[in-house]
Amino acid sequence: MESLSQENRKFNPNPQFVKQAKIAGMDAYKELYQKSIEKPLEFWSDVANELHWFKPWDKVLDESNAPFYQWYTNAKTNISYNCLDRQVEAGKGDKVAFFWEGEPGDKKAFTYKELLDEVCRFSNALKSLGVKKGDRIALYLPMIPELIFAVLACARIGAVHSVIFAGFSSESIRDRVEDCQARMVITADGGYRRGKILELKKIVDEGVSNCSSISEVLVIKRGGEVAIDCPMTEGRDFYYDVISEDCSSVCPPEEMDSEDLLFLLYTSGTTGKPKGIMHTTAGYQVFSYITSKYVFDLNDEDVYWCTADVGWITGHTYIVYGILQNGATQVIYEGAPNHPEPDRFWNIIEDYKVTTFYTAPTAIRAFMKWGDHWLEGKDLSSLRLLGTVGEPINPEAWMWYHEKIGASKCPIVDTWWQTETGGHLLTPIPGAIPTKPGCATVPFFGIEPLVLNEEGETVDVGILAIKHPWPGMLRGIYGDQQRYIDTYWSKWNGRHYFPGDGARVDEDGYYWILGRVDDVVNVSGHRIGTAELESIFVEHESIAEAAVIGIKHDIKGQGLLAFATVIQGKSADEALEKDLIQLVDKRIGKFARPEKIIFSSDLPKTRSGKIMRRLLRSIADGDDLGNITTLADPSVVDEIQKQFN
Ligand code: WT7
Repeated sequence: MESLSQENRKFNPNPQFVKQAKIAGMDAYKELYQKSIEKPLEFWSDVANELHWFKPWDKVLDESNAPFYQWYTNAKTNISYNCLDRQVEAGKGDKVAFFWEGEPGDKKAFTYKELLDEVCRFSNALKSLGVKKGDRIALYLPMIPELIFAVLACARIGAVHSVIFAGFSSESIRDRVEDCQARMVITADGGYRRGKILELKKIVDEGVSNCSSISEVLVIKRGGEVAIDCPMTEGRDFYYDVISEDCSSVCPPEEMDSEDLLFLLYTSGTTGKPKGIMHTTAGYQVFSYITSKYVFDLNDEDVYWCTADVGWITGHTYIVYGILQNGATQVIYEGAPNHPEPDRFWNIIEDYKVTTFYTAPTAIRAFMKWGDHWLEGKDLSSLRLLGTVGEPINPEAWMWYHEKIGASKCPIVDTWWQTETGGHLLTPIPGAIPTKPGCATVPFFGIEPLVLNEEGETVDVGILAIKHPWPGMLRGIYGDQQRYIDTYWSKWNGRHYFPGDGARVDEDGYYWILGRVDDVVNVSGHRIGTAELESIFVEHESIAEAAVIGIKHDIKGQGLLAFATVIQGKSADEALEKDLIQLVDKRIGKFARPEKIIFSSDLPKTRSGKIMRRLLRSIADGDDLGNITTLADPSVVDEIQKQFN
């Protein structure tokens, strides 16, 4: 935080970029922003009119049942139509929608017409298995073309997709499938990551063996040189290539109501149970489209590449829906950034002449660590715009990205948003907004941020709030609308949306995100609830109590540090630590492993028995602990502190 408050470098948009930009110059931004705030209904209506509707809306925004806002009420549309059919009708049928590269080096490409055909075939395959509008379908897939087909096919026939990142464990699959009562899982025999095959179907089998809602498991063969072992259960499991063999490549899109559920995406919160974030059709359609258009300044010659996985919201909005609705060409890559060597990304940029590159601060820091020599001889001159997402970017990483990747000429869009917001809320508009290293800068059109204290008064450093609803906002938490109200709309008596981040406004009115203010830790841009981990630890027979905190991590941004007390008579040894790590792998996935587990006889608590996580954080950071005499037992601090020396 210190370094952020001292950062005062400022970079004006490159004049070359401004010349061709959709929003060129600060005045253009201000004019449109002003309109979007003063006349939001007119603004959002104009934007929506750039897209296709089977039937227009009655009202742009219905606030009568706040915070259950509704957008574009009673309109009929289909987002797959806007991604595909609309492009083909506009003459882009032969334009490449995406180039795909597998980790082992296999390559494919699909034009918009080919993609439409594949999506229709997939839609018909789903229908032939009995999938109907409103059915929930879980997707557990590697980053292969069929993942894109499957997502769009669900949207086309009105089935609700719930994509589960393929790093989640079988138990996480089970929790998510059970929460939404999914009828089908779409998976693959396997996928590649760092040269290894992940046997996804086996993980799915373990996860859904006792899920009564599941009637089919649809399996895609990843293909490639090695056959992947794949057990099939008679009557439940079907191979996609067999099912789709006779399927037609024509499938009329379902006419979806604006507020029909489009997808669920589970994300961690402050309790042990992940939340099924609900996004509906029309508002998400409009917001993903317009943020992609202006933030990435997409035009016909661009080759866009987002390195996120479709298992997270970034992949939903800025690989699938937003980018395709703009008819852009993109690159999709299956694997790891350092396979076979840490220059894989730069080779991809060179090979496909990528113009627009969107990645995460954690990846940038990893490249910095691997060394600049991996950049030698790489031609990155095709790049014109860079972006980051997922966590605050430290100014040092921002400068490296700017100089080494962007040749000091590409604007960087540091985009702040969330699974819940559907798309960017704070971000520079690249041809208009001067950037500052580490700063998400200004609001997107239609977004009015505030920085408030707990009482709702405006402050310079405090909690970020969003004043008005916007089309891409979540519509709730699946099966638990009270939790939706409690989590996002209770802080300031329901007046503003509470995202859970701290923020600072500077003298230019720029917003600096200071990280989470709740018990959520952002590890490599992935959200992990500390309560979720704590409840996993205490399941273990040797553990009495646990507390998990976020600590600074050079590459991941934040890492997890766990504190645990052991039940009397049990021993806190390496075997126990291993056991607990395995439990995390099993319940969530390897990416949620803590850096270290510290055992002690007790945890620092107030006299009323509350664990003082803030004190644990100070111990971990080596900060001055201040007055600890109010603790129930101050001697535990000593015991824990010793383990840091
Ligand atoms: C949380 C949302 C947005 C898609 C990926 C993560 C943090 C996200 C930024 C940024 C500072 C950021 C926030 C936010 N975050 N982008 N540019 N600068 N912080 O989605 O898992 O829903 O996490 O990620 O803390 O609340 P998510």
